Amino acid sequence: MKIQRFSRIGFIMAAAGSAVGLGNIWKFPYMTGEYGGGAFVLVYLITIAFIGFSVMVAEMLIGALGRKDTVGSFEELAPPNRKYWKYAGFMGFNGIIIMTFYSVVIGWIFYYLVKLLFGLPSTTDEAKQIFNTLVGDNEIIAIVCHTISVIIVAWIVNKGIKSGIEKINLILMPSLMIILFGLLIYAFSLDGFSKAFAFMFEPKWEKLNSEAIVRAVGHSFFTLSLGMGAILTYAASLPKEASIPKTAFIVTFMDTLIALVAGLVIFSFLFQFGAKPGQGPGLVFISLPTILNNFGTLGIFFALLFFLALAFAGITSAISLVEPVVQYLIDRFNQTRTKAVFLTSLIYWVIGIGALLSYTNSWGKIFSLGGKPLFDILEYTTDSILLPLGGLLIAIFVGYELHKDRVKAALENSMGDTIFHIWRFSIRYIAPIALIFMMLNLMGIIKI
Ligand code: PHE
Repeated sequence: MKIQRFSRIGFIMAAAGSAVGLGNIWKFPYMTGEYGGGAFVLVYLITIAFIGFSVMVAEMLIGALGRKDTVGSFEELAPPNRKYWKYAGFMGFNGIIIMTFYSVVIGWIFYYLVKLLFGLPSTTDEAKQIFNTLVGDNEIIAIVCHTISVIIVAWIVNKGIKSGIEKINLILMPSLMIILFGLLIYAFSLDGFSKAFAFMFEPKWEKLNSEAIVRAVGHSFFTLSLGMGAILTYAASLPKEASIPKTAFIVTFMDTLIALVAGLVIFSFLFQFGAKPGQGPGLVFISLPTILNNFGTLGIFFALLFFLALAFAGITSAISLVEPVVQYLIDRFNQTRTKAVFLTSLIYWVIGIGALLSYTNSWGKIFSLGGKPLFDILEYTTDSILLPLGGLLIAIFVGYELHKDRVKAALENSMGDTIFHIWRFSIRYIAPIALIFMMLNLMGIIKI
């Protein structure tokens, strides 16, 4: 099977499309709100710069040198007597697990895009009711929305790298940026902007606890799409002339910028009318629409733009979550793309329904384990265990198994000697140690 190649700009947009997702526009702002702002943002930025970026380079490198699906690339590059590294390639399957709940959230966004057209909630209670009815009571609507999301994503992935993934990213990513930067320009004119800026960039150290640090590290992986083979799979289609460090830098930069812009926009609106930042996952679905109601008709327009941006971000990430498994089935089992897409989509569609039902009042008990809804279990397992584990394997593989000269040859034209050594130190020592600490901490084995 010959892997198609992206154009350079196509690759950047696709990788950035993967990275920029619900993690940036939905999760990052609410986490920042929950963990008190500035100090959390600072830890997040430091992790992105010192660990996230290094692992992104490493993951791209495996794809660009292996030029196969996740399993095939690890197998291809592993030393002859250590071919068991191919099992690390099964990290590609993490994407399907993530998709089980990611697609459900994209479904909620679709619902909001229609619902908000008819008016915004005027009180928080009303907003809560809309959200709780959708998530807790209206399983049929939620299943329909989840199904629409599965179909859209399958349709794009089925068209392949060039005419599906590249094309859609070249349209949706610039649109998303125009919307968000447009909202930012408006937010500048609000009094709430300076408060939002202070909230996000003035560190309040007393709010920073070990949980906040661990969550910041974990989120830096999720937001950069690392540790599950999305970046690796895309990099297998990296055009020959593209520089890995430069591309990784642009993608990391865009991802970080968009998270910060989304945060500034949301908090400017919230602070303008005195709302509190620490609202948890409901920040975007409950607080934001209520606050926007203060702007009258203009508010509906803002809300639609915002949810449209959220939908675009979600879809471009979703396709990168599905593609690794599709590529694996095509490469390994000689499946046609359509069959591979159908099978993959069917699996996460079904489990996704379980995840969605686990939040409903009628089915919640059946779809819970030890009192925890399936949705939360899936999210926790990927976010806190599987992605960091994937990141760890990537760091160890590139840091210790790939021959130094080979790595150097692949990176050296765009990375000076000093930067190369810093990067390698980070991949061999800083990233693995930080990741191991984080995982042990999350699993409750150690407490920092
Ligand atoms: N990076 C995406 C986001 O921030 C999520 C994602 C994780 C996508 C892992 C692909 C792989 O929403």
